[in-house]
Amino acid sequence: GAERSFVLLKPDAVRRGLVGALLSRFEAKGLRIVALELRQVTGELADEHYAEHVNRNFYPPLRTFITSGPSIALVVEGDQAIEVVRGLNGATDGRKAAPGTIRGDYSLSNRENLVHGSDSPESAAREIKLWFPELSD
Ligand code: CMP
Repeated sequence: GAERSFVLLKPDAVRRGLVGALLSRFEAKGLRIVALELRQVTGELADEHYAEHVNRNFYPPLRTFITSGPSIALVVEGDQAIEVVRGLNGATDGRKAAPGTIRGDYSLSNRENLVHGSDSPESAAREIKLWFPELSD
């Protein structure tokens, strides 16, 4: 049924001028944008968003990257939106992501992979509440 997912177009997407191209993919698929904002992510927000990763070896450079410039935060809605967004995004590592996916077509990195999408209904609810509290009840 209809579902919402949180999506972040990371600083590399904004720097590279790919915001329009990436938003077009979500819209062309049939997902509806229900919230969207340009946000400069702070270290504090990064730590909350990536709470499950803060103790990983890859987190310090990820935190530096994700706070390195403005991102586009959005919420999309549609049938099975969480799984659909993950399919559009492709595998985490852009070098391994399939052609036709966002990361497969535009990223050659495991970190600078352009886009984040919620990985489960629980993550989506948590992330939407964190980024767009006005959307939650
Ligand atoms: P994202 O979907 O935002 O979720 C966690 C992020 O951590 C991931 O995309 C990548 O940007 C980053 N990441 C995950 N694994 C690695 C890794 N092994 N090395 C560097 N960055 C990683």
